[in-house]
Amino acid sequence: MNETLRDAERAETLAQLPALLLPWYDKNKRDLPWRLNTDPYRVWVSEIMLQQTRVEAAREHYIRFLQALPTVEALAACPEDRLMKLWEGLGYYSRARNLQRAAKIVAAEGFPRTAKEWKKLPGIGDYTAGAIASIAFGERAPAVDGNVIRVLSRLLGDDRPPEVLKGDFFRELEPALPHERCGDFTQSLMELGATVCTPTSPLCLTCPLFVLCRTRSDALPLPRKKPERRQSEKTLLLFRRGEEAALCRRADGVLRGLYGFFAIEERMTAAQVRDFLQRAGMKNFFVGKPKAHRHVFSHLEWEMTAYTVDSEEDARALHAVAGKEHSPFAELAYFPVAAIEREISLPSAFRWCLPLLCR
Ligand code: ADE
Repeated sequence: MNETLRDAERAETLAQLPALLLPWYDKNKRDLPWRLNTDPYRVWVSEIMLQQTRVEAAREHYIRFLQALPTVEALAACPEDRLMKLWEGLGYYSRARNLQRAAKIVAAEGFPRTAKEWKKLPGIGDYTAGAIASIAFGERAPAVDGNVIRVLSRLLGDDRPPEVLKGDFFRELEPALPHERCGDFTQSLMELGATVCTPTSPLCLTCPLFVLCRTRSDALPLPRKKPERRQSEKTLLLFRRGEEAALCRRADGVLRGLYGFFAIEERMTAAQVRDFLQRAGMKNFFVGKPKAHRHVFSHLEWEMTAYTVDSEEDARALHAVAGKEHSPFAELAYFPVAAIEREISLPSAFRWCLPLLCR
């Protein structure tokens, strides 16, 4: 579709970016909490949060996280449960675990300065390393994420797939980086992608790169088939005893290590739940009405049906029925419902159940 520019023309176009983007950034940058200063710890936490979370969703979490853990030493020493609670709502919890693993290394050895060194830490890839090294240390290191790929593919009229473009843009951007204010330049490209060169309905007429742009529309990137998500069905049993409800830590899968409700890996009717509980050894109980919910992860979809189970009997004493339980009854632990809401990190895949626990 687009006439693709030759290498020399591409280089010439990219070389003009700092002069056009830096003045635009100075006038138009959003007031974001991680832009207060270029302290490496603050920049690093922001870049990890922003890896899979939108700016608006990350903003409040970021402020809360830094108030609770203002230094890399505080993060390194934070108990896991507290860390998970601070990360609650951001999803992709492995980011928080990697962040803490890396914090332990940094607390002992000091902050890396170059992108090459940052990349050796857990959870830090090419993009994040370039972003931190340029923003916090002014290194001339390129940072190419999805937003930047979109901006540059439109600018150059390059319709190749993003995976191919990413490597090329890392190489081609490097000679174009400014010798001063490289961190601001990195952020100006991200900012343009987030506020002007948006995925749909870009604001081309106000774009500082309009004069150079080969696309001037959202015609790029070309639409792609969405990856299929693996679907699974689950029944959740919300064991309730007085003012307490039972949770267990998940031993495997996407939410490994986090709390969840007792889960059975198939869809069950209320009658099947009652039969299941009787066979598991429960005598007196009351099963509530079913409540259905779908939770979508990046590559998975859970179709869940939840039932409250009221009983004075201890669910931990029940025995396995058919091997479809996600974790053994014995691993359940009872917590006050109010504490589950306020103090325990319950992933959003399960949080929708909380209103069912209120009497
Ligand atoms: N996305 C990734 N890093 C960012 C930053 N520093 N500012 C705004 N959006 C971003």
